[in-house]
Amino acid sequence: MDGLAAAALPADSVGLLEGVVTTRAVRRYRDEPVPPDVLRTVLFAATRAPSGSNRQPFRFVVLTDGRGAKKAKGLIARSAREFWAAKHGADGYGQGSGLEEDSPKARMARTMQQFVDNFEAVPVLILPCLLRYREPNPMEGGSIYPACQNILLAARALGYGGVMTGWHSGVEADLRDLLGIPAEAWIAATITLGRPEGSHGPVRRRPMGELVFEDRWGNAAPWAVDPPGTRHTSAGPPTAAGPSGGDL
Ligand SMILES: Cc1cc2nc3c(=O)[nH]c(=O)nc-3n(C[C@H](O)[C@H](O)[C@H](O)COP(=O)(O)O)c2cc1C
Repeated sequence: MDGLAAAALPADSVGLLEGVVTTRAVRRYRDEPVPPDVLRTVLFAATRAPSGSNRQPFRFVVLTDGRGAKKAKGLIARSAREFWAAKHGADGYGQGSGLEEDSPKARMARTMQQFVDNFEAVPVLILPCLLRYREPNPMEGGSIYPACQNILLAARALGYGGVMTGWHSGVEADLRDLLGIPAEAWIAATITLGRPEGSHGPVRRRPMGELVFEDRWGNAAPWAVDPPGTRHTSAGPPTAAGPSGGDL
């Protein structure tokens, strides 16, 4: 790396690719603050993200333990509980395999319940915003979500973790009032951050052969083979290949 960053950045705890494949959603945090030097690096990574024409329309409201932060956490906590209660019912977390204590569904439900019940205590919330300079269009997320992923990756590099949620949306008007977020700033996400209670580990996705085509839609690419040991999941909505199920 060139002069500046190499000397000024803290050492990564993992390599880039390993970080990419082990940046899982972290929803349980130790009860400890995220130090300013960690926030500096994480937000530095966010501000280095790409955006259309390099306009850098992203802005980040970081909420730790100030007065505004405490109130904002309380507001979003309320919204989080409502979202989760609705999802719990709609997606049948209390039915089928959700009733088996050790099923992936039941474990997920416990994690989510714990997350929303303790939301006020999340060490850091970040509201990544996009300053709109034209009518909303399908590409605009491309100028803010890479920054969101940079936040999660940089956190991972330093031994921290987080998750992106959409839970600001239930209390958006109140949040804008509270934090002075102007109308032209679209709040793109709510990201929580902290020191994980659990450990980092590989993400689980569908086999890449199902997701990558060559030459033509649906054509398998012979080189699209997951590295040995890759762990898979078929979680998610049903596909043409079959119904959603447990882990592969
Ligand atoms: C656009 C988007 C919206 C998401 N919304 C939520 C959310 O509202 N609540 C939540 O707990 N996680 C949310 N997540 C996290 C996903 O559930 C998570 O990334 C996914 O299940 C994969 O989990 P893993 O990275 O641990 O494998 C969201 C992720 C994305 C990319």
